[in-house]
Order: sequence, then C-alpha cells, then structure tokens
Amino acid sequence: MTQLIFLPHAEHCPEGAVFEAQPGETVLNAALRNGIHIEHACEKSCACTTCHVVVREGFDSLEPSDELEDDMLDKAWGLEPYSRLSCQVVVGEEDMVIEIPKYTINQVSEGH
Ligand code: FES
Repeated sequence: MTQLIFLPHAEHCPEGAVFEAQPGETVLNAALRNGIHIEHACEKSCACTTCHVVVREGFDSLEPSDELEDDMLDKAWGLEPYSRLSCQVVVGEEDMVIEIPKYTINQVSEGH
C-alpha cells in the first residue's frame, strides 16, 4: 500500500501525519479519512481549488492532470510546478510527501 506523508500544517495537521492510502483513493479522501480536513468547497467536483496540495515527493508516479484540473489549478493560491487538486489526484504506486499550502483561495479573498 502507498504511504502518504503530510508535512505539518498549522491548522490541518500541526504535527504532520503519516498513513496508508487505499488503492484507487484520491488524496483528499485519504486525508479526510485520517482526520486531515483539507477544504473541499465544491464537494470534490474540480470547481474550486480549495483542495490544492503540493506533491513534494512521488509526483512522477501520478496520472497527469487533465485539462480541467489544470485550468482550475491556475487559479489556486500559491501554485507550484508540483501542485495538484487533491480531490482529483488518485494515489499512485509510490509513497508521497504532501504539503498543504498555507492558504486557500477562499481565505485569500476573505482578506488574510
Ligand atoms: S474540492 Fe473543489 S476542486 Fe477539489
């Protein structure tokens, strides 16, 4: 099974977290199942970017993002080359190290 390692995030997992993901599961669902409440304002329908994560390790093992995900990612706060939408990205064969960005676009628009 693939291991997911979440780097510490002040709000969602201050100590970081390590757990196994189930095959075929999205990163978002694996995180939610393990108590990491990444925002998902559009209910996982690839329409909001609040579930944005940066894949620090294991990125190359993932299925590439499709056009819709890429279009949405362009709007994400703090976009990086290894950014993905966690509601769209299915866990691959390789272990992953994941960083949750400091802000989401919703927080930024609320003036943080
Ligand atoms: S939950 Fe909205 S894009 Fe992933």
